[in-house]
Amino acid sequence: MALSDEYKIRILKNTQIFSTAEAGLLGQIADKLVEISLKKDETLFYKGDKGHAMYIIENGSVKVHDGEHIFDTLRENDVFGEYSLIDTEVRSATITGLEETKLLSLNKDSFYGLIHSDQDVLQGILKLMVTRLRTLDVIQEELAQKNRKIASQKEEISKKNAELVSLNDEKNQLISIVAHDIRNPLASASTFVSLLKSEIDLLSEEHAEYVIYLQRSLDRITDLVTRILDVKAIESRYMNIKPSRFSVRSEVNDLISQLESKALQKDIQIVRELDEFEATLDQGLFRQITENLVTNAIKFSPPSKSIHIRLTNSKDRLMFEVQDEGPGLTKEDKSKLFGRFRILSAKPTGGESSTGLGLSIVKKFTETMEGKVWCESKYGKGATFKIDLPMTLRVQQKPLV
Ligand SMILES: Nc1ncnc2c1ncn2[C@@H]1O[C@H](COP(=O)(O)OP(=O)(O)OP(=O)(O)O)[C@@H](O)[C@H]1O
Ligand SMILES: [Mg+2]
Repeated sequence: MALSDEYKIRILKNTQIFSTAEAGLLGQIADKLVEISLKKDETLFYKGDKGHAMYIIENGSVKVHDGEHIFDTLRENDVFGEYSLIDTEVRSATITGLEETKLLSLNKDSFYGLIHSDQDVLQGILKLMVTRLRTLDVIQEELAQKNRKIASQKEEISKKNAELVSLNDEKNQLISIVAHDIRNPLASASTFVSLLKSEIDLLSEEHAEYVIYLQRSLDRITDLVTRILDVKAIESRYMNIKPSRFSVRSEVNDLISQLESKALQKDIQIVRELDEFEATLDQGLFRQITENLVTNAIKFSPPSKSIHIRLTNSKDRLMFEVQDEGPGLTKEDKSKLFGRFRILSAKPTGGESSTGLGLSIVKKFTETMEGKVWCESKYGKGATFKIDLPMTLRVQQKPLV
């Protein structure tokens, strides 16, 4: 059934381009509009086709695209292809129906017919085009304004960023001063507590308990302060690395002997599978890395489990592994594992302290010695931390990143 002119005029009035057009002009254009249907996934025209008509969407929707890339979706009352009435450029995009869609099309020839037949129509169309261009001008001005605003916001953000960096530096300095200055009184307090402890037999049972408690708390504070100073040291951009040749097995054996009593308190057995070889590394850094990993395994394992410590080497790399039967790591834990102040799902099983700094230090130190650290774990099935290091450290001083 042919559409009535009134209906077409109503549609024209709903479009942005013709909304301000006079009734006479609308009537003439409506008369030339032809209704066409587009099925879902049917293409009206392709990018590069010659344009010869303008379209108004009566109902339904189409996509404006180039292959897979969709630029826009057009719906009821949207107009497209109007420039093809004036210029001879090819279509700049493909139009395909997103659903069953009804369109009204105004053919180029009909349009020229209209213009030729009536000066008023020509004037009306020109007016519409000028309005459209003015709107474009306004949009461009708005865009320019927005760009200026973004530029000034960007400047503001970099200023704020610089402020934050300097505040952070100040905070770090303050922390390191405080941490450093706490050390001396802490050391003397520890000395006095040790003195008290050496004469524990002279104290009442209750007081002896206080001394033990005091010593444990002081140990924890000392631990924390040492950690904070460690972080401070690695935050200063350069670190002196002092390579030396040592027996890696002796170093690891020494470490295990130092930590074994802690493990035994939890009835945890440490199994050693250590190959004998020498390497040239920074012994201090190697000790801190391995100590952090073994301490973690003891700290997060439930009682009566085993920890396997393995040491192997090839021609130019060595591998150090700590495998535990603790709670393991969730997927989320793994993504956060080597960050700073990360306390994850596993909690200490013997009241040990947990600051969430150890692994970030392990990562920094390992990478400083051109090595890699990673963890293999299934949640509920234990964790294995692995360190891969060169057998001979070449770097003397390396900027930390
Ligand atoms: N072997 C492990 N098994 C399960 N979870 C672990 C293991 N090692 C570390 N985690 C988890 O990763 C977190 C971060 O470890 P990290 O060594 O950085 O900190 P921490 O041991 O809590 O404190 P710190 O080492 O500073 O004393 C721990 O709090 C723990 O939740
Ligand atoms: Mg730790």
